[in-house]
Amino acid sequence: MSRELENLAKDLRKFLANADEEDFILKAAPKPKRAAFVSVKATKEEVSTTQKTASTKTKKTPLTKEQELAELAQKICNCKNCPLGLTRIKAVPGEGNINARIMFIGEGPGFDEDRQGRPFVGRAGQLLDKIIAAMGFKREEVFIANMVKCHPMIDPTNPDKHGNDRPPQMDEIARCRKFVEKQIVLVNPDYIVALGGVATKSLINEHTPLSALRGKLFDLKLDHYTPEKNIKILATYHPAALLRNPGWKKEAWQNLKVLLADMGAKFPSSQSKKED
Ligand code: URA
Repeated sequence: MSRELENLAKDLRKFLANADEEDFILKAAPKPKRAAFVSVKATKEEVSTTQKTASTKTKKTPLTKEQELAELAQKICNCKNCPLGLTRIKAVPGEGNINARIMFIGEGPGFDEDRQGRPFVGRAGQLLDKIIAAMGFKREEVFIANMVKCHPMIDPTNPDKHGNDRPPQMDEIARCRKFVEKQIVLVNPDYIVALGGVATKSLINEHTPLSALRGKLFDLKLDHYTPEKNIKILATYHPAALLRNPGWKKEAWQNLKVLLADMGAKFPSSQSKKED
């Protein structure tokens, strides 16, 4: 046996003598796929004890960004830190490209999102998809999340009722805040688009009127984490507000052009107005 083979056999004997179950779980875990898309559907509300033990012990080995986001999504799906967690059908952690340059943040899941466990999949989501496409991106290229991860309902005893949505309250946002902040620092985008008043007040400034915040780039400041780099944030209308007030689409496009121009996009005069 060559010297290398002997050393290899020695290392293997040593590893097998010290290995515990988690070493094998880790080795058996699938490698992150090249397409860095994270979508954790909230099909499983509870994580089994074995899974919990495994995820705690994996701290030994640094997790990849994809694993950290998936672990965070699992925590969100198990969270019952506020009443929204007790009445939701599915938690909606968020989804998208973990290396996205742009992250879109809304207020909270609605009726459709609560059922599918995915953000912006209802009518407002269809308009958001069009907005993303008009900006020159595919939905899979950006990351989409919400300030709160569970459906805020006017009447939580009746989750099947349509028109039962309400904006999240300050204390609900505060309890969920760490989740969205952690997603921001992990994805580490260049830009965030705050969709609507809730995300804008929470992430930019709660005291300034929204009209003075929309369409301007600000440096993002977080409460719980320090991002690796300066992340710029821009506020615009929520797609649901644009559905109710189609006349605001022109201004929303003007807002988004500020971000696109900062990214280096050029606008031919024919493209200066893009609606719907
Ligand atoms: N509105 C939001 O703010 N978020 C969603 O995911 C859907 C609708």
